[in-house]
Amino acid sequence: MNLLELEGIRKSFPSPSGGRISILDGVDLSLSEGEIVSIVGRSGSGKSTLLSIAALLSRPDEGCIRYSGRDVSSLDERGTAALRAASMGFVFQSSLLLSDFSAEENIAMPLMIQGMKRQEALHEAARYLELVGLSDRRKHRSAALSGGERQRVAIARAIAGNPLVIFADEPTGSLDEKSAAAIETILLDAVRSTGHSLLFVTHDLDFAAKADRRLELMEGVLCDA
Ligand SMILES: Nc1ncnc2c1ncn2[C@@H]1O[C@H](COP(=O)(O)OP(=O)(O)OP(=O)(O)O)[C@@H](O)[C@H]1O
Ligand SMILES: [Mg+2]
Repeated sequence: MNLLELEGIRKSFPSPSGGRISILDGVDLSLSEGEIVSIVGRSGSGKSTLLSIAALLSRPDEGCIRYSGRDVSSLDERGTAALRAASMGFVFQSSLLLSDFSAEENIAMPLMIQGMKRQEALHEAARYLELVGLSDRRKHRSAALSGGERQRVAIARAIAGNPLVIFADEPTGSLDEKSAAAIETILLDAVRSTGHSLLFVTHDLDFAAKADRRLELMEGVLCDA
């Protein structure tokens, strides 16, 4: 079964000159278990808009969103927040970490909010920090980590919650070329080794090519890239 299905997603925004600009014009997308899918497209084509709709952070004007076959398009705020916490992991261009907390606490915190005991959550955090090669930075305050190290903590945090789907919007966009390449490998290896599903957006065509399936957002619809 598909973990995530989007069907006929439409979204428009008010135009400054009056009227509306259509950004998504009937987007269909499905993501199956363990699948890694990339989305490319020119700046302003609507990639981030699409990701935020898939992650239930904003609502489409029209269209249906299903998680594991269940229609979640009309869930209320509480329902979407609960679904996000339990089923989705996020990595952004510059991922937000709690700067006064250590790397391991940043990963353990959402697990504890989900009901895990502190000791177990810290144990999980250590396990996933090892997965992203950051065991030696476990106790570092996140404010004292480099950009690439922070992205690795964000990757570990996204996977640690054992989500159905991980969303990544230009996860290497803020890094120099060499660090970006390292983070790409770490992200894809970590996701593949844990069997998770990943939907990521990037401007980097080489990175996009490493996905199992490549899509391009063009003129409001997704096509094979
Ligand atoms: N809240 C909003 N109100 C009005 N217009 C918006 C809003 N959010 C996005 N847009 C417009 O929708 C279009 C798509 O934006 P989006 O951020 O999804 O593009 P993108 O493909 O992610 O671009 P980039 O590659 O630069 O990140 C842009 O023209 C943007 O200005
Ligand atoms: Mg964007």
